[in-house]
Amino acid sequence: MGRLVINLIRLGLVICSLGLSHGHADDGTISAVQEYRDLLSDSNPAELWILSGEELWFSTTNPNEVSLEKCDLGKGPGVLKGAYVELPRYFPDVEKVMDLEQRLIHCRMVIQGLSRYEATSYPFTKRGEETSEIEMLVTFIASESKGMRMNIPLNHVAEKNMFDLGKQLFYFRAGSHDFGCITCHSGDNKRIRLQELPNFKNQEQARKTYGSWPAYRVSAGEVRTMQHRLYDCFRQQRFPEATYGDDLMTALIMFLAKSADGGLYNAPAMKR
Ligand code: HEC
Repeated sequence: MGRLVINLIRLGLVICSLGLSHGHADDGTISAVQEYRDLLSDSNPAELWILSGEELWFSTTNPNEVSLEKCDLGKGPGVLKGAYVELPRYFPDVEKVMDLEQRLIHCRMVIQGLSRYEATSYPFTKRGEETSEIEMLVTFIASESKGMRMNIPLNHVAEKNMFDLGKQLFYFRAGSHDFGCITCHSGDNKRIRLQELPNFKNQEQARKTYGSWPAYRVSAGEVRTMQHRLYDCFRQQRFPEATYGDDLMTALIMFLAKSADGGLYNAPAMKR
C-alpha cells in the first residue's frame, strides 16, 4: 500500500517539478524551489519512504522469512534510534568499518538469506521503475536519528584508518579533468550553473550538508541517499563508475560524517 502511494506521489511531483527545474535557469529557480519547499515543509514526500521503509524493516518476505529486527546497526540488534548518527563505524563481528548501506547488505544476506546480487543490484531508483527497497530502508533508519547530533569519535584504529583514507580520497585528483572532490567542494560560494556547492572545509557547511541526507530531490521526484550522492559526484568528477557498497565509498562517507561531527542531524530534507 505504502509503495503504491509512493509511486503515485512520484509521478505527481515529477510533473510539478518539471516546471521548476527546467523552467528558467536563473536565481528565480532557486527562490521558486525555496517557495516550493516552504509550501511542503510540513509534508516532505520522504515521509512515504519512511513508512515503506518501516514496513520493509519488519517484513518477513525474504528467503529466511525473518524481519531485520535482529540486524545490529551498531547499538544492538534492532536498535534504530541514534544508529545513523554514529555511522560509519567498526563492527567487531565482521572486523571492518561499514556505513549503513554496507551493514544493510550484510544483514539482508546473513539474516534474511538474500544473495549478494539481490542485496545490491538495485540501490538507486530508476525513473519510471519500482522504488528501490534500499532507499526506503535507509530513509526510515536515518529518520530515526532526526534531531540528534552527529557522533563520530573514531575510537577504533580501523575507524581512524577509514577516515584517513576518505580524507586522501577527498583530496585526490585524477581523470580526464584532473578533478577531485576538493575541486568543487573546498571554496565558499562556488556554484555550477544553479547549484550551490557546499564547502566541506567549512564545518558549518559540512554539518548542514551531511545532516540533510537522505533527501527528497524535487528534480528527480525521488529520495536519494548519501551513496547515491557520491555515485553522482563520481560521475561529475569523470571518475570510473563507483561500485555500490564499495569500501572506498564508506571511506568518503566516514570523512564527510566526521567533518560534520557535533552537527544536528536533520534528515530527510528536501532539495532541488
Ligand atoms: C565537478 C564538480 C564536482 C566534483 C568534482 C564533486 N562534486 Fe559533489 N557536487 C557537485 C554538484 C554540482 C553538486 C550539487 C548537485 C545537485 O544539486 O544536483 C554536488 C553535491 C554534493 C553533495 C551534496 C551537497 C548538498 O548540498 O547536499 C555532496 C555530499 C558531495 N557533492 C560530495 C562530493 C564528494 C565526496 C566528491 C568527491 C568524490 C564530490 N562531491 C565531487 C559537484 C561536484
